[in-house]
Amino acid sequence: MEEKNIQKLEEKIKRLKLIQYLTIAMNETSDARELLTLMLDKCIALTGADSGSIMLKEPHSRQLKFEVFKGLEEKVIKNTKINVGEGVTGTVFQDGVPRLINDISIDPAYIKIRKDIQSELAVPLSLHGKVIGVVNVDSAKKNAFTEDDLELLHTISNQAAQILARTELYQDLERKIKLKDILINISQDIEKVLELKDSFEIIMKKLADHFGILRGMLVLFEKGDANKLSVFTAYHITEEEMSRGIYKVGLGVVGKVVETGKAISIPNIHQDSAFLNKMQIKRDKNIPISFIAVPIKVEGVVIGVLAVEKVFENGYILQDEEGLMILIASITANKVKAFEKMLKEKESLLEENISLRKELHKNFGLNNIVGNSKAMEEVFDLIQTVADSNSSILILGESGTGKELAAKALHVGSSRKDGPFVSINCASIPENLLESELFGYKKGAFTGAAGDKKGKFLLANGGTLFLDEIGDMPLYLQAKLLRATQEREIEPIGSETKIKIDIRIISATNKNLDKLIKEGKFREDLYYRLNVVEIKLPTLRERKEDIPLLVHYFMNKYSERDNKNVKNISQETLRLLQSYNWPGNIRELENVVERAVLLAKSSTIEISNLPSFLIDTEEVPDIQISKWIEAFVKNPTYEGLIYKKLVGHIEKELINKSLIHKNRNKFKTAEFLGINRNTLRSKMEEYHIQI
Ligand SMILES: Nc1ncnc2c1ncn2[C@@H]1O[C@H](COP(=O)(O)OP(=O)(O)OP(=O)(O)O)[C@@H](O)[C@H]1O
Ligand SMILES: [Mg+2]
Repeated sequence: MEEKNIQKLEEKIKRLKLIQYLTIAMNETSDARELLTLMLDKCIALTGADSGSIMLKEPHSRQLKFEVFKGLEEKVIKNTKINVGEGVTGTVFQDGVPRLINDISIDPAYIKIRKDIQSELAVPLSLHGKVIGVVNVDSAKKNAFTEDDLELLHTISNQAAQILARTELYQDLERKIKLKDILINISQDIEKVLELKDSFEIIMKKLADHFGILRGMLVLFEKGDANKLSVFTAYHITEEEMSRGIYKVGLGVVGKVVETGKAISIPNIHQDSAFLNKMQIKRDKNIPISFIAVPIKVEGVVIGVLAVEKVFENGYILQDEEGLMILIASITANKVKAFEKMLKEKESLLEENISLRKELHKNFGLNNIVGNSKAMEEVFDLIQTVADSNSSILILGESGTGKELAAKALHVGSSRKDGPFVSINCASIPENLLESELFGYKKGAFTGAAGDKKGKFLLANGGTLFLDEIGDMPLYLQAKLLRATQEREIEPIGSETKIKIDIRIISATNKNLDKLIKEGKFREDLYYRLNVVEIKLPTLRERKEDIPLLVHYFMNKYSERDNKNVKNISQETLRLLQSYNWPGNIRELENVVERAVLLAKSSTIEISNLPSFLIDTEEVPDIQISKWIEAFVKNPTYEGLIYKKLVGHIEKELINKSLIHKNRNKFKTAEFLGINRNTLRSKMEEYHIQI
């Protein structure tokens, strides 16, 4: 008896020494797997087992996986996964209590991984008080293990866990590096997509792959409601479940996150009454599910919530994951911001387009171009003939002759009339901005390019692009314009991909392009490209017969607009308008009539309603001289000047006409006028009359 006890004691001492030796050896390894292998070897040797394994729980699931093993068939191992709570190993994991089984045939829970196993020892492997795996050793003999073996195994596994904890620190660091990589990866990937839904999908897939996210959702405020939120998009949640996801500020987890602006993590939603399960998602109650909800903020204001679900692992990991989700939320916030901006722009553009189009159709048909002179009839004919084609059209004409009006009539008369009419004035946009206005740019193409910008070419897609004042297009851009018009493709600044466009180009200028070509300021090839059809608008001087029609047209237009009842114009006033030579063409005439309608005291426009430059003309107007004089007399601006003005105009006209009559011979003209030659010369100087 005595001897037996001594023998036992010696045995114990021997084992303790072995453990000590093992601990030292394990301490020297920094690699977790190496440590576990060493540990398993010793456990098998010390207990006299024939095989063994160490299983660890897979990070994002309820399964235990073989980490290291000995004496077991690899094929079997690969195909075996044990769920938490299942079999001996699964139960030891779940309960954290070691088990000794000396006859597996009487244990109904046993899962055979080797045919001939009869006995088994299983102890939990715990870290920070949490079970992370199970150490098993087994034998083909019945009653192979003792309580002492169990204790030994337990001691070793506790030691090993301590060392593992240290190596875990490294792993933690590694995990953080990996986390950073994934974040970078996510932001790069979502950079490439435009739609918020697609970005969300990318983020969720990445989180599912790397962190075992089961479900996710993006909750945003309902439009125009400061209290209600709904699920904008979700991951692994059905449409029906999504439709039930309506949240109120302050209510439930999501509502609280919105209210407080702070993240909330719930370790296990099955055991938390704050979690309302608004979407009524059916989940397995046996699996603890964590819920992490973080606010999405733009400039400090909560605009929504990002929430994910995953299998609960432990408190530390949950904390880490909350941190990660906060970072993901800030990436998402930028996307939401960009998306909302795009939505707004789209909406206002759509509205603008609709109203513009309505206005365009109403006001810019051929009917709104007034004129029945022969010159204008020709223009109308030409517009009608070429409107519904895709040919490029160049409209020429002095300032104010109606080039823009003609361009709009061409658009409205074409089958593109429901598409956009986009115009750009090449003269009024600073040269350095013109290229990006026309072709657009990609985000980051240059400093200041904070987002993508669509150029006019793209905005005009499906419609007409009107390049006004094309003569002012800088030479270096003409080449790019030529390419775009030839290939019907554009390349935004900073982009490597070409975009196909379907547009019709109409351009206009009041400059003499032939002259510009000769001076090398305009590319001849571009000229031919743009000028497939040329429409030349006559000046108002060339179609004075249209003046009465135009005057009545503008009179009605402004009478209506200003709520006036001006319907007529006196004969003399109309004649005065017809005798003027209108350097500003129709725009100038329109302005004069607009002003006259405003000033008219009765229903008729009189000479006194005209601006002084019209009556104070160099040429004596083709109206009754007494009416003309009357206009001066009634105009207060001429007080004290009338005599000089009127007599001066008549004197000048008289000298001009006489010079023509006498074939520009000064001697004969002086004689004809009955004044001396010196007087004629000084008068001609005074009135700037040249021969
Ligand atoms: N035939 C016309 N009938 C009615 N209104 C006209 C006509 N032609 C021009 N107008 C009016 O005259 C004004 C000037 O026309 P528009 O802007 O089309 O001229 P433009 O040739 O483009 O001038 P600019 O060279 O100065 O840009 C507009 O208010 C337009 O509505
Ligand atoms: Mg114009």
